Amino acid sequence: MQLWLCPLIAFLLGSIPFGLLIAKAKGINIREHGSGNIGATNVLRVVGKKYGITCLLLDALKGFIPVLIAINVIRISSHSPLMTFDFPEGWILHIPAAEALKGQIAHILTALAAVLGHNYSPWVGFRGGKGIATSAGVFLALMPAGLGVLIIVFLIVFITTRYVSLASIVAAAALPMVTLWGSWHHGRIQDGTWNKPLFVFTVVIGLLAIWKHRSNIQRLREGTENRFTRKAKSTH
Ligand code: G3P
Repeated sequence: MQLWLCPLIAFLLGSIPFGLLIAKAKGINIREHGSGNIGATNVLRVVGKKYGITCLLLDALKGFIPVLIAINVIRISSHSPLMTFDFPEGWILHIPAAEALKGQIAHILTALAAVLGHNYSPWVGFRGGKGIATSAGVFLALMPAGLGVLIIVFLIVFITTRYVSLASIVAAAALPMVTLWGSWHHGRIQDGTWNKPLFVFTVVIGLLAIWKHRSNIQRLREGTENRFTRKAKSTH
């Protein structure tokens, strides 16, 4: 197992434009409808609920799977992965505790590669999605409890405003704070063993997600952003 292999697999998986493919299978060019984004929100909006949910799951899986592989095959001897998976011993790269930082960076580069693969997919002219579902998949493998908190934040904002984009932006802004709080809560900041590459990654990924939502921010400011309204009950 080579350290660079996991980020490479992650980028290739991340770059599969599921939203575009799902819409195309229904004869729709997703770029020309709704927000024009290839993400699950726009697929749900334009193609339909079950297609949007399928896209959400596939986009999340392409972040989750490579990171799950990375944290299990690039093993730092002092840590055990949150989600353990048995790979053949020959696949496993053992990183001694003294070189823990190297292992943590390899995990984080894998996570970053998956999100960059989605956001800047070479198969769609480097104009990919906004990375929310793929980031959720990545964080499911890296910090499932933190992801749970972020989903609650997302749902609160979405239910109160009906804007998916605003919910995504607020969750992205909360991401580094949730990570810091988690490390503090487990006493890792206090004893100096907290995962610094993970924290830097959350800052980068949070900023990237907000940057990717700049057209949404513009529409939110102008009051023209797409809103998911509850369907009015039929009187018939
Ligand atoms: O995850 C993307 C979402 O936050 C916004 O999607 O299609 O409304 O730009 P969209």
